Amino acid sequence: MSERPVPVGIVGAGPAGLLLSHLLHLAGIESVVLENRTREEVEGTIRAGVLEQGTVDLLTEAGVGERLRREAFFHRGVYLRFAGATHHIDMQSLTGGRRVTVYAQHEVIRDLVAARLAAGGDIRFGVSGVALEGIDSDTPALRFEEGGLARRIEFDFIAGCDGSHGVSRHSIPAGALRRFERVYPFGWLGILVEAPPSSDELIYASHDRGFALVSTRSPTLQRMYLQCDPQDDVANWPDERVWSELSTRLETQDGWAPKRGPITQKGIVGMRSLVHEPMRHGRLFLAGDAAHVVPPTGAKGLNLAAADVRVLARALEGWYGSKDESRLASYSGDCLRRVWKGQRFSWWLTTLLHRSQSDTPFDRRRQLAELDYITSSRAAMTSFAENYVG
Ligand code: FAD
Ligand code: PHB
Repeated sequence: MSERPVPVGIVGAGPAGLLLSHLLHLAGIESVVLENRTREEVEGTIRAGVLEQGTVDLLTEAGVGERLRREAFFHRGVYLRFAGATHHIDMQSLTGGRRVTVYAQHEVIRDLVAARLAAGGDIRFGVSGVALEGIDSDTPALRFEEGGLARRIEFDFIAGCDGSHGVSRHSIPAGALRRFERVYPFGWLGILVEAPPSSDELIYASHDRGFALVSTRSPTLQRMYLQCDPQDDVANWPDERVWSELSTRLETQDGWAPKRGPITQKGIVGMRSLVHEPMRHGRLFLAGDAAHVVPPTGAKGLNLAAADVRVLARALEGWYGSKDESRLASYSGDCLRRVWKGQRFSWWLTTLLHRSQSDTPFDRRRQLAELDYITSSRAAMTSFAENYVG
């Protein structure tokens, strides 16, 4: 069944797709969002935690920052821990007031879904078989199945916001995209713990046995990560092993230990750095993880996704307002400059803090020397802070 044409079709109701739909709505541009998971699944997936100041400002300006303002944690900086000692990086003073905001990705998603639905937005959860057509033409279309019925909608533009495993990117003809990739030989075991916070700010720890990270979600729920083999199975990580490894990698000379509690969730994610260029083909624009993926160490993925859709929303506003194509033409180049800076920082922090089996004792000494430099030179600390808070 063909439905009436709509200006913008968005594939994926992750942070990129939902925020784009919301920004377009604020600019008076209608969109339809197609998502293959249910609303409950989308709102329940545990992923990112750290938002850059620019993302917080964007959400606030867009009128979806109210709950964030009340419930998020606002930190001055982060701790770097290595060789049994803890060093504070005061990002707020190093960057002229930019803070580290901890607010879970699924809370951002809930806020955006609520805002879209309250404004009568069209989000189709649980659709299947999404297929892109005619992206080289002026009337691209999306075919999909909804409630057992085949549907088709024509658009002026399609935004591929369907993450790293979506369909949008694969609709681009072979040879039109260049792929730049690095796969890391390690992953993260992430846990959710029912316990009070173990630290007032995030702790990034580099230990001979590997990386560990202490983050938070709420006064009663904590998020922690451990470097592990990306092929490992959570079944190999009974609670006692998780606590023992966290305690070892995070130990300090003054006997610090994480606050324990029931572990309510465990999962392992692999890590890679990936960029596809350009981020546009014809009338299809890729945004967020659909175009580029970073290892989570630098806490950049969601932030890059938000920045992409801000640029795309403005470009579409220019096109609908005054048939100005210039911003659409520069979309990919504008985003990629920022994306590559995010890639560089994420790669750098990942290789600085993780241990690799191919590392030699020389590599470890070099890592420790670099950590010593970052925590003792104001110039190095400022560079780290600037990149981290965005
Ligand atoms: P996604 O969130 O992947 O959303 C894509 C959506 O498209 C999904 O809902 C998916 O179901 C849907 N979809 C896929 N295929 C189809 C299809 N065929 N049809 C219809 N719908 C489809 N980033 C940060 O900025 N800060 C952090 O602290 C941080 N921490 C992280 C920690 C971990 C452990 C991980 C794994 C990631 C972290 N990230 C972080 C990265 C962040 O989670 C991602 O970059 C972010 O989710 C990207 O958003 P997106 O909207 O582009 O893609
Ligand atoms: C998180 O809280 O999930 C988190 C925090 C910092 C990171 C990555 C993830 O670098």
